[in-house]
Amino acid sequence: MEISIIGSGTMATGITQVICNSNEITKVNIVARTEAKAVNVIEVCKKGIKRLVRKSKLTEAQAIEAVEKLEACTDLEVVRNSDLIIEAVAEDFIVKMELFSKLSSLVHENAIVATNTSSLSVTAFASVLLNPKNVVGLHFFNPAPVMELVEIVVGHETSSSVVDKLESFTYMLGKSPVVVQEAPGFVVNRMLIPMINEAVSIFSEGIASAEDIDKAMKLGAHHPMGPLALADLIGNDVNLSIMETLYSETGDPKYRAHPLLRKMVRANHLGRKTKKGFFEY
Ligand SMILES: NC(=O)c1ccc[n+]([C@@H]2O[C@H](COP(=O)([O-])OP(=O)(O)OC[C@H]3O[C@@H](n4cnc5c(N)ncnc54)[C@H](O)[C@@H]3O)[C@@H](O)[C@H]2O)c1
Repeated sequence: MEISIIGSGTMATGITQVICNSNEITKVNIVARTEAKAVNVIEVCKKGIKRLVRKSKLTEAQAIEAVEKLEACTDLEVVRNSDLIIEAVAEDFIVKMELFSKLSSLVHENAIVATNTSSLSVTAFASVLLNPKNVVGLHFFNPAPVMELVEIVVGHETSSSVVDKLESFTYMLGKSPVVVQEAPGFVVNRMLIPMINEAVSIFSEGIASAEDIDKAMKLGAHHPMGPLALADLIGNDVNLSIMETLYSETGDPKYRAHPLLRKMVRANHLGRKTKKGFFEY
């Protein structure tokens, strides 16, 4: 099975690392806008794979085999031979629609095209492909090598055989799927991101420090990570984009993004990826 992963950010890197460890996958193309970005994905994956060897979760031979499957690409043409294409580019509707439009003339008839979107419409992306039945959401969580869940998002046209195939694929990767019908934010982000937005609101009102807000949710609700540290891990640009989708799709004011979240994105305080968010890195 040959796979193409489009993107070179947090999620594309994590998903690549998960996928290259599977015996059933023979080749993984990382398609980025520049060679340097694609190579960086491979370098980060190599480090993750070395960690698995140190923890005795992979043998040296398996690690070499995993890395040899990875190919850095800048030309979208490589998707022609792929059985599965997973896009993980920025959470921006226009950017993703442009990408799907380009894919429409490239993907082969039986290829499955999956989006890792956190909240956007699979149905809209499918509408520009010749075979919308093969378009589906495959929503990994961050960090992909660690988190067990994958939401399989069923668009209006997605066929049940594609859903079945991706359920098996997810188990094969050692993950656990839930099948969800398309809706803004699906299941997890519809609850999680408004909670983060509320934490931003509590912080903005000066009710508690960022440290104490996180401590409260870790010790009081048994969350493994506080909401503001989680906001920084996800990326505040991604958080804002998901809130905007929830709000624009439902019209419900309970999903209004907090102005501080917007301000932080404008200031490029995106979290871990810019080394500054609610905390410094
Ligand atoms: N961050 C998370 O916690 C998380 C979790 C699950 C799903 N997602 C989803 O995964 C996707 C990627 O998110 P991320 O966190 O990896 O973001 P990121 O900001 O780390 O990476 C985004 C990538 O998209 C690339 N990109 C931007 N515009 C592009 C274009 N026009 N063409 C090609 N590539 C382009 C950027 O170069 C970058 O490599 C989004 O849809 C996001 O909602 C994110």
